[in-house]
Amino acid sequence: MDTANQLAAVGTFQVLKLPLGFIRVLEWLFAIFAFATCGGYTGQLRVSVDCMEKASSNLSIPIDFSYPFRLYQVSFEAPACEALRRERVFLTGDFSSSAEFFVTIAVFSFLYSLAATAVYVFFLNKYREHSQRPLIDFVVTVVFSFMWLVSSSAWAKALSDVKVATDPDEVQLLIPACKIQSNKCDSLHGPRWSGLNTSVVFGYLNFVLWAGNIWFVFKETGWHKGTSRLSGGASEKQGGTFTQQPYNQGSFDQSGGYNTQGSFDQPSEYSQVGGPTSYSNQM
Ligand SMILES: *[C@@H]1O[C@H](CO)[C@@H](O)[C@H](O)[C@H]1NC(C)=O
Repeated sequence: MDTANQLAAVGTFQVLKLPLGFIRVLEWLFAIFAFATCGGYTGQLRVSVDCMEKASSNLSIPIDFSYPFRLYQVSFEAPACEALRRERVFLTGDFSSSAEFFVTIAVFSFLYSLAATAVYVFFLNKYREHSQRPLIDFVVTVVFSFMWLVSSSAWAKALSDVKVATDPDEVQLLIPACKIQSNKCDSLHGPRWSGLNTSVVFGYLNFVLWAGNIWFVFKETGWHKGTSRLSGGASEKQGGTFTQQPYNQGSFDQSGGYNTQGSFDQPSEYSQVGGPTSYSNQM
């Protein structure tokens, strides 16, 4: 009993070595990377406002923003260059819908692929018992791969807009004091984009993983099993008869040296045998 249970336990984790299980594991790992890099992002840019009246200048104004990129709610204080008066300036744009959509898909994708991995490992027999279960798995996989494509594309577009809206050169244009020629405004540094660029890459990688797994889940559905038995068996039989004949011909027509070479390499056997025999027949 004990050894049988142990073997069964070893056997269940073998499913993670199959493409279906292995890709599911990658799916939830990559989903974590996608929502962590996007949802955990904070960026900072810095501008300087050098007023003609030096006392009111501020040569280092930091502007922080973060997920979900409701930039119209992000504000900072800039000198008005009139006495010591300051004025509040707001960034423009709202990219929260695309960012939140992307993170939502990532979170649900993580939950589903984690649950699916658990089902494959612990309940593989129950999963395969009813053809409905792989079919549901198949439909969900198709939906998620589509959602990853849509949300990654939407998020990639939103990110390029966020980059424009938080470009220090663009932000300067929002500061009223910078519109006056005698004041000098400068951009000190822009935000770091590596984290958000990574999130887009992981979004598209997730699409590739889910789209690729459509095939392996499809193989679990009953429909594929029914058709593969017929076509697979027929092609195997045909292949066998075609490769057998040249071998037999070659052993009669040609010397032993050629024959042993040919037996290691099927394509050369074909060309070696096909050429000389057809010429000898014509002559
Ligand atoms: C410049 O502006 C920032 C943000 O508004 C503020 O924290 C900082 O104290 C200002 N510096 C000077 C020298 O006024």
